Amino acid sequence: MSTVTTGPSTTTARLEASGVTVRFGGLLALDSVDLAVPPGGVVGLVGPNGAGKSTLFAVLSGLLRPDAGRVRMGGADVTRASAAARARRGLARTFQRPELFSGLTVREHVVLADRVRHRGGRILRDLVTGGGLRRPDAGEDERVDAILDSLRLADLRDREVSGLPLGACRLVEVARALATGPAVLLLDEPSSGLDGRETEELAATLARVNADHGVSLLLVEHDVELVLGMCGTVYVLDFGAMIRSGPPEEIRSDPAVRAAYLGAETSPQRGAQDAVPDEESR
Ligand SMILES: Nc1ncnc2c1ncn2[C@@H]1O[C@H](COP(=O)(O)OP(=O)(O)O)[C@@H](O)[C@H]1O
Ligand SMILES: [Mg+2]
Repeated sequence: MSTVTTGPSTTTARLEASGVTVRFGGLLALDSVDLAVPPGGVVGLVGPNGAGKSTLFAVLSGLLRPDAGRVRMGGADVTRASAAARARRGLARTFQRPELFSGLTVREHVVLADRVRHRGGRILRDLVTGGGLRRPDAGEDERVDAILDSLRLADLRDREVSGLPLGACRLVEVARALATGPAVLLLDEPSSGLDGRETEELAATLARVNADHGVSLLLVEHDVELVLGMCGTVYVLDFGAMIRSGPPEEIRSDPAVRAAYLGAETSPQRGAQDAVPDEESR
């Protein structure tokens, strides 16, 4: 194992998996997989259904302990750290099915996340004493408005999320994640269920989140074109093995990748497998 370094650096990966192996009984779901999300990077992880994408996502976010291998954040080993501990270190995520509070407005979702970030444990005290819960923190309005503006959600700020289309709910999830001040944002199938226009809007939003807020992104995606279009580095998983990684233009033209995934629609063996909808919803 390499020496652990701490503190931000321009080269140390914000999030890194090395030699990650996961077995489910006799099934090797991940076979010594490596992946790195560099500072400011936009990284994509693609692969056919059953390749192990969600399993790796769970390992990175702290929901699943690998049987072997390491996960690091900014060089620090977090393999045994809980999801909450990783969140405190700057890891945020979205869900394939947005996990929002139906009675709250768009703005309230962002306010809540901002208060958790800026009040931390004091929120618990406020819950007991009743003090301060409704009182905005200094700068809160400005921070929340900046995020809503940046994500083009200002017009929807006072709408309850229950009445919003899925595309808008995805943006609310991203806004809420952003309000926690993350270093890395993990997105689980962000385009699933979205139409073409919503997918384009999401891609533009994510590009701004990366460029304007300096957040590194890891997209775990079924939509290969989305990933090839917006990621600087793309990793390809197939049957638990990381078969390729590189810039989109290399991935697009790689014969092994085409055989495993890009040509899936024309491959008879894979055609049947890919017809099965992705049930996963973590
Ligand atoms: N909790 C589990 N128990 C047993 N097998 C699992 C479990 N989760 C996933 N698998 C299996 O591991 C493999 C990888 O699954 P998954 O990570 O969900 O793939 P993907 O997200 O790329 O579609 C699949 O063969 C799947 O059936
Ligand atoms: Mg999956």
